[in-house]
Amino acid sequence: MKRLSLAVLLSLTPVVAQAWPWSQDMANQVSTKPQESVDPANPGMTVFPKRSVPVPGTTTIVKDSAAAEKLKNPVPADEKSVATGARLFEIYCVVCHGKEGRGDGLVGAKLALRPYDLSAAQTRERSDGFIWGYLTFGGAVMPTYGNDLSPTERWHVVNYVRKVVQRAQAAAPVAKK
Ligand code: HEC
Repeated sequence: MKRLSLAVLLSLTPVVAQAWPWSQDMANQVSTKPQESVDPANPGMTVFPKRSVPVPGTTTIVKDSAAAEKLKNPVPADEKSVATGARLFEIYCVVCHGKEGRGDGLVGAKLALRPYDLSAAQTRERSDGFIWGYLTFGGAVMPTYGNDLSPTERWHVVNYVRKVVQRAQAAAPVAKK
C-alpha cells in the first residue's frame, strides 16, 4: 500500500510541479489582458493617446481596511442606489448573511465562524467606510469583493445595508440569542 501511494505520488509530481503556481493558471491564457497591446511587434502596455487625462472619481485606491474606515461615502443613498445595492446583496451576500442580513444564510450555516448579523448594534455603529472596507478586503472567513464589485457597487451595497437591513432591525428587533 505504501509503495503504491508512493508510485502514485511520483507519477503526479511533474504534473503538479508544472502547474505551479496554480493561482495564476486561469489568468495566464492567450487572451489579451486589459490595456495589453494586441500588436505582437509592440508588446507590453498600450500607450495612452496623446493628451489623454485620467478620469477622476471612478477608482478608489486604499491600502487596507484601516485606511478604508475613514473614507466618506461618495454615493448618495437615494432610491436608485439602494435598489442597485439590493440586487447586488441578493447575488453576493444572501447566501451567507441571509435575506434580511441577519447572518442566517444557508451557506453561512456551514461555516465555523458564523456570518455576523448585519443589523446588530455592532455593525450599525460601524462607519460606512468600515463596511466598504470589509467588502473590499474581506474578513477572517468572509471572502473579498474587491474584484467582483466595483468601488461604486460596494457603496451601493453599503447604502442598502444601512437603509434596508438596518432599518428593518430598528423596526422589528430580533431577540438576542
Ligand atoms: C461565504 C460567506 C459570506 C459571504 C458570501 C459574505 N459574508 Fe460577510 N461575513 C461572513 C463572516 C463569516 C463574517 C464574520 C467575520 C469574518 O469572517 O471575519 C462576515 C462579516 C461581515 C461584516 C462585518 C460586520 C462587523 O460589524 O464586523 C460585514 C460588514 C459583512 N460581512 C458584509 C457582507 C456583505 C455586504 C456581503 C456581500 C457583498 C457579504 N458580507 C458576503 C461571511 C460572508
